[in-house]
Amino acid sequence: MRVLPVIAFLIVASGLARSGESAPTSPGPIPIETRQAHAVFRITPRLYSGALPGGDAAFAELASLGIRTLVSVDGARPDVVAAHRHGLRYVHVPIGYDGIPAQRTAQLVKALLELPTPLYVHCHHGQHRGPAAVAVMAMAREGWSPDQAVDWMRQAGTSTNYPGLYGVVRQFRCPDPQPIEAAGELPETAAVPARVTAMVDIDAHWGRLKVWQWRSWKPVPGDAAPTLHQEALHLWESLRELGRQEATQRLSEGYLRCHTLSEERAKALLDETAKPEPLSVQRLDGLVRRLGESCTACHRVHRD
Ligand code: HEC
Repeated sequence: MRVLPVIAFLIVASGLARSGESAPTSPGPIPIETRQAHAVFRITPRLYSGALPGGDAAFAELASLGIRTLVSVDGARPDVVAAHRHGLRYVHVPIGYDGIPAQRTAQLVKALLELPTPLYVHCHHGQHRGPAAVAVMAMAREGWSPDQAVDWMRQAGTSTNYPGLYGVVRQFRCPDPQPIEAAGELPETAAVPARVTAMVDIDAHWGRLKVWQWRSWKPVPGDAAPTLHQEALHLWESLRELGRQEATQRLSEGYLRCHTLSEERAKALLDETAKPEPLSVQRLDGLVRRLGESCTACHRVHRD
């Protein structure tokens, strides 16, 4: 029984020692425990980071945390209607994985300066683009150094496979007041290039295929969701549709080779799902892995 006070003393003492060492002015990003929203961090009192809120319950939870404005840097169209139901306003500032253009930076900083805070900044998973946007905003207006910003991206799990995102943060220069003023409107939904929209759609099918894989390719009894075959079909069709577009046809030979490979691998997966049962877990796993590799191979060269 006497052990407890000793442990308590040690915990307090080690805490004091640590706080004495670094004398932090702010505690830095704190992970917030949530039920509906994911990957949520409180960065500063005015700034939060996290994943795409998936439905009403997640929006409600963010509102209950005190969030006033949502900033999406994702390519997908934000669910503005659901956000409004919970008294939240959206700003859509879509960015890619290769960095943050100056005009987008100006918009992000303007949002932090002019819109009701706290702001909740999200991409899709809350791991890469969202944390990079948050890093830039915190450097511009919350007094962060580039080192703090990079530490935060590591904490959020931003992959080093996105050198453009780390680069923009390491070389960050705060935009002058003028570009911030000239950033224009902060729209709730921004125009997004057709290819980005197509990729968002492809990614949605891909995400659901990964859920099938996670369930060892077994359907949920009584589930009305698309079958595995339908999901694989939609993915292949979306890729094919994108490949047929004139804008895609005008891209480089190397790009088109990457595209064709991905399409072929999606077709191989589709054919496997069309076979009479029983499905081979091992074969499906292999086909999905190869398809995923074809996505990554193109992204590495042509996106990131
Ligand atoms: C032939 C090349 C190519 C292939 C194959 C490809 N992508 Fe993409 N993808 C891109 C490019 C280029 C972008 C960036 C588009 C832009 O920002 O203009 C992109 C963007 C994305 C995005 C980001 C969308 C956003 O919110 O901005 C996601 C997610 C994505 N791809 C998922 C996938 C998945 C999943 C696959 C495979 C099933 C795949 N992609 C296959 C080229 C490819």
